[in-house]
Amino acid sequence: MKEWLKNSWYCIARAEELTVETQPLKKKALGQNLALFIDSAGKYTAVNDVCPHMGAALSLGCVKNGNLVCPYHNFGFGSDGKCHEVPSILESGKIPPTLMVDSYPIVEKYGLLWIFLGDAPEDKRPPIVDVPEFDKPEFHRLYHDLVWRGSVRPMLENLVDFTHFSYLHAATFGNGAHPYRDDYKVTKGEHEVSCTVYVKLNPDNWFFPPVPELGENPDVKVFCRYHVPTLVVNDFSIGKYKDVTLFTFTPLDENEVLIRMYGCRNFDKSDVADTKLKNLGERILEEDRLVIESCIPEVLPRAVGVPVDKYLLAARNLYDKVLKAGNSAADHIYETHRGGKITILPSPVRTANESFGRSWKRRETQEKTARKKRNSE
Ligand code: FES
Ligand SMILES: [Fe+2]
Repeated sequence: MKEWLKNSWYCIARAEELTVETQPLKKKALGQNLALFIDSAGKYTAVNDVCPHMGAALSLGCVKNGNLVCPYHNFGFGSDGKCHEVPSILESGKIPPTLMVDSYPIVEKYGLLWIFLGDAPEDKRPPIVDVPEFDKPEFHRLYHDLVWRGSVRPMLENLVDFTHFSYLHAATFGNGAHPYRDDYKVTKGEHEVSCTVYVKLNPDNWFFPPVPELGENPDVKVFCRYHVPTLVVNDFSIGKYKDVTLFTFTPLDENEVLIRMYGCRNFDKSDVADTKLKNLGERILEEDRLVIESCIPEVLPRAVGVPVDKYLLAARNLYDKVLKAGNSAADHIYETHRGGKITILPSPVRTANESFGRSWKRRETQEKTARKKRNSE
């Protein structure tokens, strides 16, 4: 939790999950409950799922005239976070200015909905990862979601750490006879680090079409990218064939992470191939899960890297750099009367509406003091 990144884009849903019929859609990310809906202009919206009147879950309500209507007293909130309707106000018509809810930008890209969790202004937001193959008609998509127990960083680093492919995955797609070496280069950018390596796959689980012109068990090119906050793109190619997978990691709460594997390939688009690749992916991730759950690097003086880990270390450094640049979500976690914790991240609405922003500043200061007291007890 203390390492969650705010001011970042997270994959919150597939676009097909949010429709006029399915709204409001309840989702969770970084420990925060969110209510997703479509406003009167047809814009996707997500608001903090705590009604500013008496704290009810807005996602239990419904959408009327483009406003999300709370089930408790039927106040209606727009995508601007403002309360536009209080049915019990008949004469004065005065709606208090702080009767607002945090509202987060949502963008659709590659059939996925991406939520910006934070209050950074538009020109300071990192880009959403680019995977151009998803938009090309010759590529066939294969989506798969699963939930793992644990924290996000070991899971993310597992995907960035390609060197384990040869060992841990020798029974599935890796090839233990041809381990990775450290003679590759890492490219470092502001929001992404990447590298290209060549590898031999396990011929027993070869998933590309045969390429006899390249000889027996040819090298496969792997273009690996880590993109902030928690995205990994692994692009495997041989000759004209390509299989690209985007992995998105969305921490749901302190115990669970939703992993989405969105693959696309430009060969064998049959259902049989989909099933085969899905099964292979599941077997590979199960191999990972057993080991990741055993990892406790936090008890070490420092996890010791070796030269071949340079891509992993560059990704780790980039994550830490973004975290230390004022993007920790840790200051926005609140205790509830039920003893649980929920996150409420600041949204751009707080900057745009001064009195609402001030009321949350006060609330954050109170919670900080209470947290200090709890920690000292
Ligand atoms: S708690 Fe939502 S309108 Fe009263
Ligand atoms: Fe793995």
